[in-house]
Amino acid sequence: MDYLELARKRYSERRFSDKGVEPDKIAKILEAGRIAPTAHNLQPQKIYVIASEEAHAKLLTKTKMTYGAPLVFLVCYDNTISWKNTNDRCYENYDSGEVDATLAASSMMMEATDLGLSTLWARAFDSADMIEIFDLPENIVPVVLLSVGYPGPESRPSRLHDSRKPIDEIVVIK
Ligand SMILES: Cc1cc2nc3c(=O)[nH]c(=O)nc-3n(C[C@H](O)[C@H](O)[C@H](O)COP(=O)(O)O)c2cc1C
Repeated sequence: MDYLELARKRYSERRFSDKGVEPDKIAKILEAGRIAPTAHNLQPQKIYVIASEEAHAKLLTKTKMTYGAPLVFLVCYDNTISWKNTNDRCYENYDSGEVDATLAASSMMMEATDLGLSTLWARAFDSADMIEIFDLPENIVPVVLLSVGYPGPESRPSRLHDSRKPIDEIVVIK
């Protein structure tokens, strides 16, 4: 499929089916996260796979932002690995970890879409909650909950999905 066609096909899923995601598809989604680009190729991304009933139950005590998805990835970065630049004024104490984790999660989201799956990117969670329920080490920083599954029978894009600014509002030619 043409990439733009794929990008247009993706929408935020908030009506997942409870059908599980096949292990070969999970492996492909994780591979997309593994090979994503990172600053200086330091690869700080750390991907927690929320697959067990116990882990889902824990997650549901803290956020409803998974909408019944059978599979959730908590994409994080390790801040002892991520690229920093604290000396150079043009970077202003820059830590590339969040960007690196975002690129990994974005690749995973699009791979899932290409595999015929639905996804939801969610940031409406308290990082401290994720650290507590999944017993994350102090160097692990949560960035996104990426829910993945098959669309449910009532699946449809939200009102916001087709609301995008025209190209001349977001592109500036100098
Ligand atoms: C950084 C980020 C955070 C988001 N957090 C949430 C969230 O917590 N809950 C939610 O339902 N959707 C969340 N979304 C999904 C957006 O609301 C959605 O992408 C946007 O409205 C456009 O709709 P579409 O994805 O269907 O095209 C988030 C998206 C991004 C990129």
